[in-house]
Amino acid sequence: MTVSSPFIYDEPLAAEELIGRQNALALLRERALDGRNSRLEGPRRFGKTSLVRAVLDTAKADGAHAIEVNFLGCVTPADVAERIELAYRAQLERPLQQWFKAVVRTLRPTFSAAPGGVGASIEPQVTAPGLPERLALPRRVLERTGRTCVIAFDEFQEVFRIDSMLPSVFRSVIEGQREAAAYLFCGSHPGLMRELFSDRRHAFFGQAAPVELEPLPEVDLADALTARFEQHGRGLGEAFEPLLDAAEGHPQRTMLLAHHLFAETKRGTTADLMTWTRAHANATREVAGEIQVVWDGCSRLERRLLKTIAHLTVPLTGRDAQERFGLVKSGSTQVAVDRLLRDGTLVVDRTTRSGWRIVDPFLAAWLRGE
Ligand SMILES: Nc1ncnc2c1ncn2[C@@H]1O[C@H](COP(=O)(O)OP(=O)(O)O)[C@@H](O)[C@H]1O
Ligand SMILES: [Mg+2]
Repeated sequence: MTVSSPFIYDEPLAAEELIGRQNALALLRERALDGRNSRLEGPRRFGKTSLVRAVLDTAKADGAHAIEVNFLGCVTPADVAERIELAYRAQLERPLQQWFKAVVRTLRPTFSAAPGGVGASIEPQVTAPGLPERLALPRRVLERTGRTCVIAFDEFQEVFRIDSMLPSVFRSVIEGQREAAAYLFCGSHPGLMRELFSDRRHAFFGQAAPVELEPLPEVDLADALTARFEQHGRGLGEAFEPLLDAAEGHPQRTMLLAHHLFAETKRGTTADLMTWTRAHANATREVAGEIQVVWDGCSRLERRLLKTIAHLTVPLTGRDAQERFGLVKSGSTQVAVDRLLRDGTLVVDRTTRSGWRIVDPFLAAWLRGE
C-alpha cells in the first residue's frame, strides 16, 4: 500500500520545499543579479536542479528573464541547439512568445546537410550550424525588452561529451555578450564539470565561480522533518536519530527515508523504532536494484576499494584492507579512486580513515553488510 507523503524524492523540488540551502541560494541570486556566472558543484541528487530552479524564480522576481535548459540526452550539436530553442519557446513570458516565433524563423536551421557553415569567427571549428545564433538569443531578448536573462545550463557535461570542442562554441558566444545574461552551469558528473571549469586546457577555465553543495545540515533537517510530520498529524519520535544516521545528510536519501517513515506512521501516532525498522527496510528494498547496477558497473579493484572505504575505520593501505578486502597497494588503486571521485561515487572526506566517503549511504551500508 502506498500512502502519499509530503516528501518528494524522485524529482526536483519547488523552491518552497527546499530544506537548508539558504546561503547557496542567496549567493547565487546575488551573483546572477550582478551578471556574474556560477557553477553548482555537487554529486547526483544533492539538489542541484532544485536549487537552480529556486535561483531562476528569484531571478524572475528580480526582473530578469529566466530560462532553464537541460542537456541530458543530447547527442549532437544540432540537438543542443534545438534544446536551447525549445527552452526559450516554452519558458519566455507569454507576451514575448509570438515575437520569439518570428525570431526563430530568421535563424539558421539547427541542422543542415552541408558541413561547415559555423562562420569563421568560431575557433576551433565545430560543425554546429544554428548553435551560435541560439546561444546569442539573450542579446535579442535584451534588445527587445531592455531586460537581461539568467540562464541555467543543467547537465552541462553532456555538451562536453558530444564533442570536447563544443564548450568553446558556448564560450565564444557567451563572452561576446556578457551584458545580456548571467549563466548558471551544473552537471551530474563532478569530474567532467571540474575539468571544464578549472583545467586550463579547457574552454571554460575560470569562467564561473563554483558554489558547492554540501550534505543538508542536521539542524535544518530536524526542523523541517518535524514540522512536516506535525502538519500531517504525526510525530517523528524515536525514529528521528536513526533516520539522520542512515541518511548522512544526503538530500535524496533523507527524503526517501522520510517518505517511507511517513508512510509507515499512522495519522495521529508517533513513529517508534519498530516503525523505523519497517520504513528502513522498505527504503532499502526500493534502492536495491539501483545498487546492483552500480556494483555491476564496477571493476574488481573498484569493488575492493569501495568495500574498504565503506568501512570508515579501515585505512586503505593497512593489513586490514589487504586481508579483509584484497586491496593491495598499487598505482592502479589511485586510478580507480580517481574514476570514482570523478563520477561522483566518492567524495573527499577528511574525517574517515581512507580520506574518502561513499556518497550514497545506502551503497555504503550495503557494502558493510548492514
Ligand atoms: N534542499 C533540499 N531539501 C530537501 N530535499 C532535497 C533538497 N535538495 C534535493 N533534495 C532531494 O533530492 C532529490 C533530487 O533533487 P535534484 O534537485 O533533482 O538533485 P540533482 O539535480 O542534484 O540530481 C529531490 O527529489 C529531493 O528529494
Ligand atoms: Mg539534476
